Amino acid sequence: ETTHQDAEKLAAAKAAVKFVKDGDIVGLGTGSTATFAIQELGIMVKNGLKIKAAASSIHTEKLAKSLGIEVLSLGELSFIDISIDGADEFTESLDLIKGGGGALFREKIMASLSKNSIIVTDASKKVKKLGAFKVPVEVVPQAYQYVFNQMLILGGKAVQRIKDNEVFITDNGNFIIDADFGLIDDPAKLASALNQVDGLLAHGIFINLTSKVMMSTGDQIMVFE
Ligand code: A5P
Repeated sequence: ETTHQDAEKLAAAKAAVKFVKDGDIVGLGTGSTATFAIQELGIMVKNGLKIKAAASSIHTEKLAKSLGIEVLSLGELSFIDISIDGADEFTESLDLIKGGGGALFREKIMASLSKNSIIVTDASKKVKKLGAFKVPVEVVPQAYQYVFNQMLILGGKAVQRIKDNEVFITDNGNFIIDADFGLIDDPAKLASALNQVDGLLAHGIFINLTSKVMMSTGDQIMVFE
C-alpha cells in the first residue's frame, strides 16, 4: 500500500519539477511528497540546473543542502518564483489543509511569497469538503490555554499534538493544536475567524495560496488550477 502511494507521490513530484527553470528561486516544501520533489531537484542541480532555494522547515533545509542545493533565508526574500509543496487535503477550488508535518507557518509564508505555487499529492488527498483531517494550529506557548479555549468557542474539538510521547515543538519553538471542526462548509470564514485569535501564529487552512494541484492517480497526473 505504501509503495503504490509512494509511486504516486514520486510521479506528481516529477511532473511538478518540470516547471522549474534556470535562475529560479524555488520554494521547497515539507513532507514525504515534497521530499520526492527535492530529491528530483537535487539530481537536476547535479546535472547543471542553476537554482537557489528557500526551505519551509529545518528538515527540508538540511535535505536540500545535503543534495547540493543552495538555500537562501526565507525571511530575506521578497518573492519566490515557484514553490513545490504537499498537502494533507485539497478541494477542487484549491483550498487546502496543511500542517500534518507541523511546518505550516513557514509553508504559508513560502506560499504567500510564491508567484507560482504548486501542490503535489497522491490520490488520497482530494476531498469534497475539507475537515476530515484536523486543522493544525501553531500556538505560541504563552498563549496555549487561551488559544485552546478559543478553538472550543469556535466549535473545534482541540487536542495538543504529541509525538513520540512528547509535546510536539515546531521549528519556531511553538506548540501545535489539532482542531477538529468537522467537515468545513466555509473554509474562508473559518480561516478569517482563526486569523483573529491572538497568540495563534498560523493555521493550516490555505486559501488563495495555490496556483495548481498536481495529483497523481498512478496512471496519470490530474491538474487542478
Ligand atoms: C507539512 O507541515 C505539511 O503541510 C505537509 O505538506 C503535508 O503534511 C503533506 O505531507 P505528505 O506529503 O507527507 O503527505
